[in-house]
Amino acid sequence: RAAMPRPPAQIESLADARAACALCTRCDLCHAATQSVFGEGPEDAPLMIVGEQPGDHEDLAGRPFVGPAGQVLDRAMADAGLDRAGAWMTNAVKHFKFVPRGKRRLHQNPDAGEIAACRWWLDLERQFVRPRLTIALGASAARALTGKGNGLTARRGRVEQTPSGPVLISWHPSLILRRSDPAAAEQALAELTEDLRLVSQMLG
Ligand code: URA
Repeated sequence: RAAMPRPPAQIESLADARAACALCTRCDLCHAATQSVFGEGPEDAPLMIVGEQPGDHEDLAGRPFVGPAGQVLDRAMADAGLDRAGAWMTNAVKHFKFVPRGKRRLHQNPDAGEIAACRWWLDLERQFVRPRLTIALGASAARALTGKGNGLTARRGRVEQTPSGPVLISWHPSLILRRSDPAAAEQALAELTEDLRLVSQMLG
């Protein structure tokens, strides 16, 4: 019988953190998800981008932001002059939360307890990468990074100071995909792009 993989005894690098996260049972989401999706990017990235959690595509691929929301984000980043390859891309929650519906798996928002349990991994990523600036995409990322769960309308487009550095809050790209009114979707995309342009200027 193959030996069970064991977590590293000590976490001394992002590679150790990734290996330990693959075995995470800090909350119940590990049971139904295919795998954990740890962050990726340059280990000294000046910019960290934090989404909510892996979606269906990310859960299968094991990489963040590779599905439809990732494509929206890629487009907004390119329009804002930001290079995705230069950023550490990750999520507030590392396992996909869903309910099965026939052959589909419907995304569910993580709750405050799941976000709090997964902060362990996000904090490690922040300690190792030490970005100059972090972008929180959507309410779950904003909660994980600032500790505050209040609504985003008044907070978007602004930088909040946190003990682990400045955090700019913006819309989650999947909001753009969910808006049924095309004008509202267009506006949310324009605002996300505007926020990313500000980030591009701040990082110079
Ligand atoms: N949505 C997220 O928040 N993160 C991903 O990685 C994909 C979709």
